[in-house]
Amino acid sequence: MDKKQLEQSLVLIKPDALKNSITGFIFSQLSEVHTGARFAAAKVVNVTRFLAEEHYAEHKGKMFYEYLLDHIMGKAHYSEQENWKRRVIAIVYQGTGVLNAIRSTAGPTNPHEAREERPGCIRALGTLVPVKDAKGNVIGNRMDNLIHASATTADAEREIKLWFVPDDFPPLMRAYETEICTTHYYYKDGQLYDAYEPDSTFLLAPGDVVWKTDLAILQSYARNEPVEGRLNAVVAKYLINKN
Ligand code: RTP
Ligand code: MG
Repeated sequence: MDKKQLEQSLVLIKPDALKNSITGFIFSQLSEVHTGARFAAAKVVNVTRFLAEEHYAEHKGKMFYEYLLDHIMGKAHYSEQENWKRRVIAIVYQGTGVLNAIRSTAGPTNPHEAREERPGCIRALGTLVPVKDAKGNVIGNRMDNLIHASATTADAEREIKLWFVPDDFPPLMRAYETEICTTHYYYKDGQLYDAYEPDSTFLLAPGDVVWKTDLAILQSYARNEPVEGRLNAVVAKYLINKN
């Protein structure tokens, strides 16, 4: 396939969109006739703090960081009693020009600005929620802006490899290089193992298809060599929806 056809974007339909039942509207707005974007992969995810922190690593330390995590983890919209409703829908879209087409359909980050500047865009249906301190003083805003969409090709690659394994894609829609794994990998408390440890999570077995860049990170880590890239970013997708 022509490489330009393989341009990809990660879209996350956030918990505020699920709660308000605007998922259908979002899917229509992003459909191939409007944006040229084809489905390449999709899944329903209960977002753990582990995954949320990796996804929003660039915002760590910012004033709104904790609201952002609460939002994407569904804690801001569903109480502990309804914690099973805490989900996002993660979709990889593919096609020429999809990054810009989807960002444009999503609209500005701030829903109030979106409403002013781009009526009709998806985020125009979002809202700002004031965040108060213990004394009731407003100390900031949480932006309930309904969707995330990758900003650049590099962001898309990082984000897609964070949320999806190669087997989530039909083989002909895999845009990044893959390799076949030749060893077992298990994970527990920040450590990799090549055999099962009590309470560890199984990641990979010989024969599994893996992103080439991920395998390089796992191999360096296992050999105690300097690692380019974060182990947590490799591991996170294998922990999705596992207890
Ligand atoms: P996204 O990553 O979700 O697609 O949004 P974006 O690129 O348009 O915006 P970005 O600057 O990456 O911010 C990520 C998310 O953080 C929340 N945010 N809150 N309260 C605030 O000042 C603030 N600023 C950003 C939004 O939910 C935004 O989507
Ligand atoms: Mg962003």
